[in-house]
Amino acid sequence: MLVIETASRQGNDDGKRQQGASTLPGSGAEIKVAPFLFMLPDPQSALKESYRFDERRREGGRLNAVEIEEAISALAERLFEAEEFPYAFLEAFGNKETTLKRLRKGESNKSDMGGVLQTNNIHIATCKAGEVTRTLTALKVSPATARAKARFVLATDGEMFEAEDLTTDDGPISCAYTDFPNHFGLFLPLAGITTVRQVRESSFDIRATSRLNRLYIELLKDNPKWGTAQRRHDMNHFMARLIFCFFAEDTEIFDGGGAFTSTIETMSARDSSNTHEVISELFRAMNTKVAERTGVGIPRWADGFPYVNGGLFSGSADVPRFSRIARSYLLHIGGLDWRKINPDIFGSMIQAVADDDERGALGMHYTSVPNILKVLNPLFLDDLRQQLEQANDNARMLLNLRKRMLKIRVFDPACGSGNFLVIAYKEMRAIEAEINRRRDEAHRSTEIPLTNFRGIELRDFPAEIARLALIIAEYQCDVLYRGQKEALRDFLPLDAQNWITCGNALRLDWLSICPPTGTGVKHHADDLFHTPLNQAQIDFENEGGETYICGNPPYKGSKWQTSEQKEELASAWAKFPHLAKTTDYVSGWLARYLDYAGKVPDAVAAFVTTNSICQGQQASDIWPVVSRRDIEIRFAHTPFKWSNLASHNAGVTVIIVGMGSKSSRPKRLFGDDGRVRECEVIGPYLVPNMPDAVAKANRPIGPQFVMLFGNMPRDGGHLFLTNQEAGELRRDPATSRYVRRFLGSEELINGKLRHCLWIEDRDVEAAKGQEFIADRLALVASNRLASPAESTRAFANHAHRFVQIAGTAAQTAIVVPRVSSENREYLPVDFVTADCIIGDRNFALYDAPLWNMALIASRLHWVWIGTVCVRLEMRFSYSNTLGWNTFPIPTLTDKNKADLTRCAEDILLARETYFPSTIADLYDPEAMPEDLRSAHERNDEVLERIYIGRRFKNDTERLEKLFELYTKMIASTVAGKQKKVGAV
Ligand SMILES: C[S@@+](CC[C@H](N)C(=O)[O-])C[C@H]1O[C@@H](n2cnc3c(N)ncnc32)[C@H](O)[C@@H]1O
Repeated sequence: MLVIETASRQGNDDGKRQQGASTLPGSGAEIKVAPFLFMLPDPQSALKESYRFDERRREGGRLNAVEIEEAISALAERLFEAEEFPYAFLEAFGNKETTLKRLRKGESNKSDMGGVLQTNNIHIATCKAGEVTRTLTALKVSPATARAKARFVLATDGEMFEAEDLTTDDGPISCAYTDFPNHFGLFLPLAGITTVRQVRESSFDIRATSRLNRLYIELLKDNPKWGTAQRRHDMNHFMARLIFCFFAEDTEIFDGGGAFTSTIETMSARDSSNTHEVISELFRAMNTKVAERTGVGIPRWADGFPYVNGGLFSGSADVPRFSRIARSYLLHIGGLDWRKINPDIFGSMIQAVADDDERGALGMHYTSVPNILKVLNPLFLDDLRQQLEQANDNARMLLNLRKRMLKIRVFDPACGSGNFLVIAYKEMRAIEAEINRRRDEAHRSTEIPLTNFRGIELRDFPAEIARLALIIAEYQCDVLYRGQKEALRDFLPLDAQNWITCGNALRLDWLSICPPTGTGVKHHADDLFHTPLNQAQIDFENEGGETYICGNPPYKGSKWQTSEQKEELASAWAKFPHLAKTTDYVSGWLARYLDYAGKVPDAVAAFVTTNSICQGQQASDIWPVVSRRDIEIRFAHTPFKWSNLASHNAGVTVIIVGMGSKSSRPKRLFGDDGRVRECEVIGPYLVPNMPDAVAKANRPIGPQFVMLFGNMPRDGGHLFLTNQEAGELRRDPATSRYVRRFLGSEELINGKLRHCLWIEDRDVEAAKGQEFIADRLALVASNRLASPAESTRAFANHAHRFVQIAGTAAQTAIVVPRVSSENREYLPVDFVTADCIIGDRNFALYDAPLWNMALIASRLHWVWIGTVCVRLEMRFSYSNTLGWNTFPIPTLTDKNKADLTRCAEDILLARETYFPSTIADLYDPEAMPEDLRSAHERNDEVLERIYIGRRFKNDTERLEKLFELYTKMIASTVAGKQKKVGAV
């Protein structure tokens, strides 16, 4: 992670800490800023703020990182109370009142040091002044800490704060008590947020986002017009200016530490009435060249600020009005140390501030840098690093690499706040710096132009932040690699070019935004910073280079797309209209890439996407089209969690697909276990050397039994009975034989009880003699007659029966629902006896041996169905022709069948113990009974040994074996058919 600590200004830091704590040094007078002001609840806020901490905690709901940060900051600002501190600390991380009560009473407190020890979590002790280090050591070696498997130890005397994560080698952190919120990321696991190191170290970004969020909400309260569609852009632009100023004042881009905040504090009235005017004057100064300042009335106190512009301060200097609270928020935000900002992380977080729908989940959508590198490394960074290694100290080779890099363009057509671009830029700067170091040119200014990092973003605030993030990244890299002085010298004024286009990537022509050569950008985007910027003047600085397209565009399954998005997708897939109907929104970016690659054949692209585009119907629709356009998957990452700050890493499961024009070079498949495999082709399901999609089969390709649809009523509901009706008919000997239990998918999964009328042909006349039944059959007949479908109308005269009937003479059936949740670890399947009528929301194998059920209940089958069948949103949509008939099964001996039968029986018996629990209850992944899980494990063990003589290591290995076998079985079926034809 790149956190750049520039030369520290101790005096300033101290001043800031005081400021944040309680007293603001004013011009002579002391202005009290009550700390509690920052934690005032916001009772009348009409805005959708996330629901409050207290309510969440009482309900035991999980807190997100931003909420935790708020609570921790409030705690640090309160008067320190030694006895109360441990409980308040645990409360801030979302512990419920009942949990705290038990700790207070000592029921669950395992401390042997008079502190508070929560099992598996933390051992906290407060101590006398000056004894913090000694206390921390004692906590570490305390037997109770080890016994309770505490992950953290924490000691404080209210002046100093020390803590350590005992599961890492990072050693203890030590800081002033008031600064401990700067380290709150370390403790996120206490709230169930397991984080990568990167996230743990983003405490500053989370704190800054949280504070800016509060300011944003407060300003919108006082300036409702700024929240309207017309003024939202101004509001967002104002926030971008503020962020820049906070960064600039802490990094000496503005002369003198903290100049921006302290000028506002000094010059604006305490009642906040003129805060907006003071800020507006500062912005005006930043938009006026120093030489032109005389005569335009820039006040003396604003004159010390440099000319910044670059579009950032051009246009209206209008500023929203500040309430007292908003003013104090602003001063408090200025009190943070903005040198620590991480433009990649911060950008992703801050964009939620301006989005009413996302504000509640503030910070949750942060994308971790390691995940972004999973895209960028194989796309081009690995190659650059490899060249660097090969060059060693060879000056010419190093020079060639540097020249190559300055011609590289990186283009993210759904860039959000620019995190992919920022990371790409920072990584390239690191390589360039290493080249310069090896060539003894360490202080050389960079040749990598920021304008080679292009983006398209739909929403204006993230687009603004993207540009700002890149500017900050450039400055930070300059400080790191060239030194503060050089960085400052070249920084201002900002460049006025606009290389992040605010617009719709599925409507814009990518060629006009990221042209293949140095020709100008033809597209005039919505201007980002108010001033119309002549984009046509922005050439790529170094033409003729490589183009790398990357990003994580929005996924959206077809059900969730708005009508506009459907239209956009249709325009993107104009040449293949059928794809627009069935595929996810993200596929539009593939379509646009195909068009782009048609003109720029060397362009390579890698996108993060949900795995749906490599599953079922979408896989077999999309990838043949891609192949026809001479594009192939060059590398891919098999499914993994796209982790973010959400509790328990509740990120989506995604894949990465990297594409380029067809070539003979080996393709690389990255697994979640860190394994990289090379192969000739990566197929539509991201399986090596399986180039084709699975085709439907009308009959099983292996030993499995035939699977049929359940019975289809098409009756308008009139053949169905309420439980009361069923009971009454059953009690009457004249009608009891017409009532049967009906098993739809709901009944199978959720154990609902449902009945229907079932009348054999031979009984029709007798049944019609019963008034209730006669009435019902009349209703069925008229309903069918009204149907537009000829096949239904034809059954109006046979109202007593279902339209499609199967397996009614069977004694038993193995039943599988057609649609079921993707969250279960095994597919729902059940075994029923003859008295049930199986509905057409299910498939059924009639009178099939039980070993067939063992196959369906296996993890292997789950993986196969999840991959080759269609998904409805994410839910499994089972298909007999595509999923069951194609399921590749090796030859089964009688012994194999007997073993599998036994496994299926064990599964059924294990379920039986929990009667009347339903399949939904028993297969809840959080609550699956151990004996049932073991029965499934045994089933998997037996089946997988039949396949490969051992358990598979993971689902990827399962899938690969299945495809290998499938390919062989299909080939032998085809060969068999050909032989037969030959013989005839
Ligand atoms: C999943 S986010 C990724 C952004 C960023 N890379 C990140 O990780 O935060 C997708 C971004 O695409 C933007 N977006 C959605 N539809 C778009 C469109 N049609 N054209 C351009 N951008 C779009 C969204 O506003 C959002 O910022």
